[in-house]
Amino acid sequence: MSSPEVRRLFLALWPNTAVRRALVDVQGRFPPGIGRAVDADNLHITLVYLGSTPAERQACIEEALAGLAVADFTLQLDQLGYWRKPQVLWAGSDGAPTALISLVDGMSKAAAQCGCHLDARPFRPHLTLFRKVRKPLRDLPVMSPILWEADDFALVESITAASGVCYKVLKTWALIPGAAGSASQ
Ligand code: 2AM
Repeated sequence: MSSPEVRRLFLALWPNTAVRRALVDVQGRFPPGIGRAVDADNLHITLVYLGSTPAERQACIEEALAGLAVADFTLQLDQLGYWRKPQVLWAGSDGAPTALISLVDGMSKAAAQCGCHLDARPFRPHLTLFRKVRKPLRDLPVMSPILWEADDFALVESITAASGVCYKVLKTWALIPGAAGSASQ
C-alpha cells in the first residue's frame, strides 16, 4: 500500500477512448493464454518513470511540468514487439515524433531538477499489451496502424491493491495545440 506521503508515480501518455478500444482489439487478436493482457483501463505509454516520490518532490515536479511548452503530435502505433527479459509484448512506433522526444527530454530535466534519479536507459516508446509472455514470440502479426493524436500528458500513480495493480491519473497537462495531424513532424 502506498502511504499518502510517498506515491509511486510515472509520467505517461494516456490513450483516449478510441485508441484504447483499438488497442483492446489488437489484444483480442492473440490467443488466450499467451500472457496476461493489460487491463483496458491500464493501457498507457510510460514516458518517464519517477518511482517512489515524496509529496514535496511531487509538488516540485508538478510545478516544473506546468512550465513545459511542447507541441501536440500524432503518434502512429504500427509495430508489435516482444522483449524476452521483461516478458512483455508491446505496441510501438517505427519513429517517434520530434515533439514526443522533446516532451520526454523536458520531463526528464524537470524530474532530475527536483531530485529524481532517473533510469539511464534510452527512452524506447512502447505500450505494453501483455505481461508474463513466457514463450518467445516470433513472426508477430502485422499491426494495422493506430493513429493517436496526443494532446496532453498525465501524472499517474501506480497503486497496488489485492486485485492487482491499478493506475490513477492524478493530473494532466495540455500540449500546445496545432501540430497534431502530421505524424512526421
Ligand atoms: P512497462 O510497461 O514497460 O512495464 C508503471 O509501472 C509503468 O512504469 C509501466 O508501464 C512500466 O513500463 C513503467 N516503468 C518504467 N520503468 C519502471 C521501473 N523501473 N519499475 C516499474 N515500472 C517501470
